[in-house]
Amino acid sequence: MHNILVTGGAGYIGSHTCVELINAGYNVIIVDNYINSQPEAIKRIEKITGKAIKSYNCDIRDYNALKNIFKENDIKAVIHFAGLKAVGESCKKPLDYYDNNIYGTIVLCNIMNEFGVKNLVFSSSATVYGENPVPYKESMKAGTITNPYGHTKHMIEQILRDLYNSDNSWSIALLRYFNPIGAHESGLIGENPIGIPNNIMPYISQVALGKLPKLTVFGDDYNTPDGTCIRDYIHVVDLAIGHIKAIEKILLNSGIYTYNLGTGNGYSVLELIKAFEKASNVKINYSIGPRRNGDLPICYADATKAKNELNWVAKYGIDKMCEDTWRWQKNNPNGYKS
Ligand code: NAD
Ligand code: UFG
Repeated sequence: MHNILVTGGAGYIGSHTCVELINAGYNVIIVDNYINSQPEAIKRIEKITGKAIKSYNCDIRDYNALKNIFKENDIKAVIHFAGLKAVGESCKKPLDYYDNNIYGTIVLCNIMNEFGVKNLVFSSSATVYGENPVPYKESMKAGTITNPYGHTKHMIEQILRDLYNSDNSWSIALLRYFNPIGAHESGLIGENPIGIPNNIMPYISQVALGKLPKLTVFGDDYNTPDGTCIRDYIHVVDLAIGHIKAIEKILLNSGIYTYNLGTGNGYSVLELIKAFEKASNVKINYSIGPRRNGDLPICYADATKAKNELNWVAKYGIDKMCEDTWRWQKNNPNGYKS
């Protein structure tokens, strides 16, 4: 049974991935400083899986503390989720983003190197494609990135490529996520944003719950069929399973691999609202507002590389994504605090 160290394992995607890792027979060790999550998430993972989880309250930038975790545990591979992710905040606090995301990754990789642990899966983002034509393919050059958060993802990809080029015994998967939504079907874990959500799905579900009065749709004058932006929404459990496939791949053959994790389908903001209304049986109060700075009209994946090389395809559609989001939100109106 391999030990997999999961940085940011108490977070939204990390918690779902821990469940799937345990289901697949791995032993999970979580490192999180809870800057955007709560230890309760780990209790919920234990409840879902029936397995006790070893976890450390540790900032990955704390070299000595992280080193001790590697001393104490025989780690086979690392899945690296820990980082800051709010695009708007990154424009206001760029140094925090460069420090946490880039410096944190460098500390982690240095320690991995010291301990000879050279298997790494990294959370990248479709944001690195910038303004390329859709669908986005892994072979495309990175596009123009308009915010510090996106720059950190692009730079970390480059750092990891350089690392692999310097030492081919590393084995690294760069996973470019599209728009993860949904929740585990138990309703026990899900997305738990602090304060007013930036992203559409938690915003819609909090409007449905009556916690927020109204959703503003950011623009309906884009060159798309209904005028609103199109995104490749992917169920977080599908995304989590993609990580299991990536771990299998890097453990089998060393190399550096880049994969899109998306469905290959796009839905507009209005289509997402409709799907959520159907799943929840609640009317969503919304109005059309101005465009949000930096939003691309259309973003979706070409998901064939992950299908061919990882034997991974997203199984769940938009209805299931909305049903599972609603179950989580309804059962946990205050997130992990309820
Ligand atoms: P999240 O904020 O829920 O999870 C990140 C976790 O990392 C949190 O538990 C947080 O407390 C922890 N963390 C942050 N900095 C840390 C540090 N220095 N040391 C230890 N722990 C730290 O976010 P998420 O949505 O689960 O995203 C996970 C990863 O996926 C992030 O790297 C994010 O940039 C990337 N990603 C997310 C999306 C998305 O839409 N959610 C899209 C593309 C990429
Ligand atoms: N939107 C609204 N109203 C809102 C929030 C969002 O209309 O209140 C719209 C946006 O304009 C966009 C769509 O809903 O058209 C999705 O917006 P999100 O903020 O949920 O997601 P983004 O596509 O902007 O960004 C997400 C992640 C980024 C990541 C990017 C690409 O938040 O971290 O996907 O992977 F970089």
